[in-house]
Amino acid sequence: VLKTDLCRALGIEHPVFCAGIGAAAGAELVAAVSNAGGCGVLGTASLPGKFVRAEIERLKGLTDKPFGVNLVLPLLRKGQVEACFDEQVPILVLFWGDPAPYVDEAHRCGIKVLLQVGSVSEAVAGAEAGVDAIIAQGVEAGGHVKGTTAISVLLPTIVDAVAPLPVIASGGIADGRGLVAALSLGAQGISIGTRFLASAEARAADAYKARIVMANAEDTVYTEQCNVGWANAPHRVLRTAAIERRRDPVDAGAGKATSLEQSRLRTRIFEFATRRRDGPDCARCCYSSTCIHSGRDRRRSTGQIFRHVSCARVCSRLVRRANWRDGNGCI
Ligand SMILES: Cc1cc2nc3c(=O)[nH]c(=O)nc-3n(C[C@H](O)[C@H](O)[C@H](O)COP(=O)(O)O)c2cc1C
Repeated sequence: VLKTDLCRALGIEHPVFCAGIGAAAGAELVAAVSNAGGCGVLGTASLPGKFVRAEIERLKGLTDKPFGVNLVLPLLRKGQVEACFDEQVPILVLFWGDPAPYVDEAHRCGIKVLLQVGSVSEAVAGAEAGVDAIIAQGVEAGGHVKGTTAISVLLPTIVDAVAPLPVIASGGIADGRGLVAALSLGAQGISIGTRFLASAEARAADAYKARIVMANAEDTVYTEQCNVGWANAPHRVLRTAAIERRRDPVDAGAGKATSLEQSRLRTRIFEFATRRRDGPDCARCCYSSTCIHSGRDRRRSTGQIFRHVSCARVCSRLVRRANWRDGNGCI
């Protein structure tokens, strides 16, 4: 029921994308989402090209379904783009920059290009550059947030501005109701980060996943506190103890750091979020979106992310619920 033209163009079953959520979106997560009929997207932020190539090769061994590779343009490392072109990845998902230098070569390699944007003007520029679909990111999103507007406002505006180009909705969506709402606002798919971060296959510490499952929407902060060598890049993170204490921004003096130092800092900050044994309470930077709502004050969890389950369960539940709503005349 919910198969869109974009699904047919990309060869996927369900209009559900897993965002390239940095180090957490490794080959296992991507393959799990693609094998479940959605489209997984490999995270590459700050990873040198040779490691990106190795991860793509590993991913190809785990799935024969379409998948994407995400490149964050301000963080591009040598060899990342080349790895994607040489490996002829099915889909390239670009974020935070001008896609024009990459579109023609990608198309020559048979690669579709998706661009995540935060505004109508950026979406129109992307369409003019020839991308194959736009991902509209609302301010609710977790991680780095280009959007400054609620997805319910931004999405229909972008859909109209770039029609007939397909648009995917991103930010604060975690269940079948969100999928139905996005489709009803004109989207042809949804891109999810935080929900998949709290899944079994995501490469993140159990304490981080547990914290997301336990959190409520008010427990996130939109801040620039964790900008490491990437200025003017707001992000949404969990309200951890460190964020609450409002320590000095982590990038104090980043202007003086070399790019190698900056990239080491970036890696370290993600490790804070993903690997600290004492859990994410002490971490400054635990990316998360407002879609978390555990309903923890009730006896039974009622929120959108209430359990840490496999990607296959997340996808099947999401699509089943959305189909059920569709069948009941809710859209
Ligand atoms: C933990 C985390 C890491 C992220 N890292 C990236 C990234 O490396 N590249 C990127 O394009 N987007 C990244 N994002 C943002 C996502 O692309 C997407 O916009 C966001 O997850 C959507 O909102 P949601 O978290 O409510 O689903 C990240 C999001 C999260 C939660």
